[in-house]
Amino acid sequence: MLKFETLIMASSTLICDTEPWKELRAHVEDINKTHLRDLMNDTSRCQSMMMEFDGILLDYSRQRATTGTLNKLFSLAEAARVKEKINRMFNGERINSTENRSVLHVALRAPRDAVINSDGKNVVPEVWQVLDKIRDFSERVRSGAWVGATGKALKDVVAIGIGGSFLGPLFVHTALQTEAEAIECARGRQLRFLANVDPIDIARNITGLNPETTLVVVVSKTFTTAETMLNARTLREWISSALGPQAVAKHMVAVSTNLKLVEQFGIDPNNAFAFWDWVGGRYSVCSAVGVLPLSLQYGFPIVEKFLKGASSVDQHFYSAPFEKNVPVLLGLLSVWNVSFLGYSARAILPYSQALEKFAPHIQQVSMESNGKGVSIDGVPLPYETGEIDFGEPGTNGQHSFYQLIHQGRVIPCDFIGVVKSQQPVYLKDEVVSNHDELMSNFFAQPDALAYGKTPEQLQKENVAEHLVSHKTFSGNRPSLSILLPSLNAYNIGQIISASCEHCVKTNMPPLAIPNLKLPATFFPFVQLLAIYEHRVAVQGFVWGINSFDQWGVELGKSLASQVRKQLHASRKKGESVEGFNFSTKTLITTYLEASAD
Ligand code: F6P
Repeated sequence: MLKFETLIMASSTLICDTEPWKELRAHVEDINKTHLRDLMNDTSRCQSMMMEFDGILLDYSRQRATTGTLNKLFSLAEAARVKEKINRMFNGERINSTENRSVLHVALRAPRDAVINSDGKNVVPEVWQVLDKIRDFSERVRSGAWVGATGKALKDVVAIGIGGSFLGPLFVHTALQTEAEAIECARGRQLRFLANVDPIDIARNITGLNPETTLVVVVSKTFTTAETMLNARTLREWISSALGPQAVAKHMVAVSTNLKLVEQFGIDPNNAFAFWDWVGGRYSVCSAVGVLPLSLQYGFPIVEKFLKGASSVDQHFYSAPFEKNVPVLLGLLSVWNVSFLGYSARAILPYSQALEKFAPHIQQVSMESNGKGVSIDGVPLPYETGEIDFGEPGTNGQHSFYQLIHQGRVIPCDFIGVVKSQQPVYLKDEVVSNHDELMSNFFAQPDALAYGKTPEQLQKENVAEHLVSHKTFSGNRPSLSILLPSLNAYNIGQIISASCEHCVKTNMPPLAIPNLKLPATFFPFVQLLAIYEHRVAVQGFVWGINSFDQWGVELGKSLASQVRKQLHASRKKGESVEGFNFSTKTLITTYLEASAD
């Protein structure tokens, strides 16, 4: 039995002090002697760096890594006790220690008969109670059984929310907008998202809408977020000035963990859809945060497929051995890139316009989770965590920032492609379809980055001498490719079992999620979303940080509230601007003077 002091020591040991970390540091020198041009010639290495999951092909052969690197990364994962941390997450332990909360977004998409405990209580029945309530409510709204104050059906929805209460649902909505079945289901309906407190965002989102036929969904975990609450008050006024204050009951509903504040705001608690403090905002897309607006727009059956897709990834993440575990592999490779190769950014590049909101969503999931300066025990870290995530769909990005990626800084890239287009176009006289054209770029870019172009090649092409250095590409720039079978609902036709071979071999307790009734139909883009959620967690587990709190957003919020008070005092009582440094005081004073009319 370990002594208490030993346990304390173990928990506060930083990962950078462990042998596997030191070995990886030393290993960088070996990798620096290689070039992707040569690594890509080793077919068996490439074969071992490709895997398939539910029809999704992952190719990480263009990472600056060898099988030796991967083995060292697995040892690092062991030293960081990643498996134990995954288990603790699925077991509902309070791994978000600074907020004393469990991290159970996996329970949001678990099948009805699953058992996932938080504080000894199975949370799955509550999850399904809310899902059933959403199914019922969305069917009533969609069928016209629930009507607005003037008796008209509510065909348009404005979802108000910001950060995690906005980005995930927006991503899914954008991906569904061009999906055949979803188009059918959404016919005659509109879903809009109001996030920014900028009144321009309000104007954009209510232009063309009639309050009589609009339902407003206020989405806020805390129901205190300044931007969301002001936007909610603004649309409440928009509705009540058009239809009278009693109309709010028919035209406004809420999604929150804070049902008391929902009621105080004036929304009938019967029209509130709950979630729980064990759901982090940026991990909440599978809660009522995403499920309600998306069910209103597309109907609950589509959203159910979406939940099943995420659940299949949860099963895989929980049970697959690390060498075959997609989120684990991706997470470890990201740690390798950030902490050892020193690449502090990552580009997320979907070759699909339907996935245009993927990078903004993952930007929050990743940067709010892993941008931390201290370990989970509060010890300042001597290494940096997190990466700068950004991205745009290809090929648009190619005509924007790819120049820097090819010849400037090294930025590991995630290329995401799709086999079947949601909206294929075949021109009469062209054999290569429009989607083929897009995918030609998806296949070409990773090799351009990996191989580059040498001065010798340029000389052979008779490039003018003075241009050779300008046209040289150093190559050796890492990327990974993810090929999705489609974006549409896709039948994976295989059995996913909680008692997988690996669990049996390793005596691991089987996950309390029963087998999914298959063949299951999933949206692969949702699986992608869940893969990235878990990938981010793996990175945080290795770095030894708390990926589930976000104290870094607080300081700016409280300073904004001081400024708000000052604006109020100056406008209302003519008080001069006090309590700020010279720069801020000048800026605020100028703003006040120039905006007073
Ligand atoms: O940006 C900080 C944050 O707390 C996010 O984590 C969260 O998703 C967002 O604000 C919105 O919070 P809420 O859902 O409570 O309005």
